[in-house]
Amino acid sequence: QIMRDHIVAGNWKMNNDLAETQELLGKLKLQMVKEPEATVMVAPSFTNLYPTFQSLKDTPVIVAAQNMHESEKGAFTGEVSASMLKSIGVTTVIIGHSERRALFNETNDILAKKVQAAIENDMTVIFCFGEELEDRKSEKHFNLVEKQLKESLFQLPQSVWKNIILAYEPVWAIGTGETASPEQAQEMHKHVRELLNKNVGKEVAEATSILYGGSVKPNNAKEIFAKEDVDGGLIGGASLNAVDFLEIVNSF
Ligand code: G3P
Repeated sequence: QIMRDHIVAGNWKMNNDLAETQELLGKLKLQMVKEPEATVMVAPSFTNLYPTFQSLKDTPVIVAAQNMHESEKGAFTGEVSASMLKSIGVTTVIIGHSERRALFNETNDILAKKVQAAIENDMTVIFCFGEELEDRKSEKHFNLVEKQLKESLFQLPQSVWKNIILAYEPVWAIGTGETASPEQAQEMHKHVRELLNKNVGKEVAEATSILYGGSVKPNNAKEIFAKEDVDGGLIGGASLNAVDFLEIVNSF
């Protein structure tokens, strides 16, 4: 069996100004005494990206952006491109977070373009997907997830999948305190791996890390991460607290 990377990524969303970010970084560095077994990532806001990158340069922590535009440059007021991110050392980007989909109208088509742009720029993508409560209630969640992956990712050639990390985030479990049960997470992750197997290839299916996101906390991380097809987590609220985040990081 292939050993997949264990990854724990903190999505700081639109939280923390510069001073607060520096305080959190200070705590993280102080408390991260031993090198974690998992790959650790944090995703600050755009204004805090460069200071965070500088601060974590000598640590194993990877700094990711929360979003990027699909175009290389030009008249796109308010947007940030892949090459801009790369110019400050950031080579990982979250694409397709449910908040981007729901609040900023990012469709599967747009997300396909963003992924394409990131891949062309040799970046690593953390691609988020997941159903809403309605989809689950009407038992459309497996189909919905399949559609999200098909329309944004399955056109990619096998060779680029080493740069793709998947993150299943059921919308009903984000910021709600309601977690998918470890069994529900496992069931969907297994489904996704089967889809990868069918649509991309066996090796990619076995090697791609699939993270779970949605109210992961220190007290539930262990049982979620213990599931066979769960390779780590994408952490929102709990990643804003250094102690909690590091406890989750060490939950394998
Ligand atoms: O991207 C992480 C996320 O959406 C989960 O947020 O606060 O439920 O851990 P939270």
